[in-house]
Amino acid sequence: MAKQKTTTKTGAKAALRPRLLVLNGPNLNLLGSREPEHYGSVTLEDINLALALRAETAEVDLESFQSNHEGALIERIHAARVQGVRYIILNPAAWTHTSVAVRDALAAVGIPFVEVHLSNIHAREPFRQHSYFSDRAIGVISGLGHQGYLLALEYLLNKLNTD
Ligand code: DQA
Repeated sequence: MAKQKTTTKTGAKAALRPRLLVLNGPNLNLLGSREPEHYGSVTLEDINLALALRAETAEVDLESFQSNHEGALIERIHAARVQGVRYIILNPAAWTHTSVAVRDALAAVGIPFVEVHLSNIHAREPFRQHSYFSDRAIGVISGLGHQGYLLALEYLLNKLNTD
């Protein structure tokens, strides 16, 4: 009886940790070597590690997922609803400018998100200056390099405390 109570308590405590999800679109697995004049020299692994460490000190569950396949990203977004993810940090990469499907997936699950871009998409080619996500995002960080992800996380940690 007592044992069962302890298990329940532990389970409840773990479930209380808020969940955040970081999503990265195509070619971002090549960060570090890919067009460093636009995207810097920090790798996605480094960014994910920094995010994980910050989330851990804040006692928040954070998972990072990158895909070069649109359907895989969409399915990850669908799963996020089932998992009770509270907020998403999203760099849709090239899908920013093309994907009604990823936009619709976010609308379908209704999970609020912050849109992040390493480069300033408004200072680049005209086709990059439209985003299918910005009007649905809580906010957009563009042009602050890898720090944009950490700033988005800091914002969301603060938001979780005040929700
Ligand atoms: C990007 C900007 C996009 O235009 C581009 O296709 C990317 C990365 C950025 O982080 O600056 O892949 O989202």
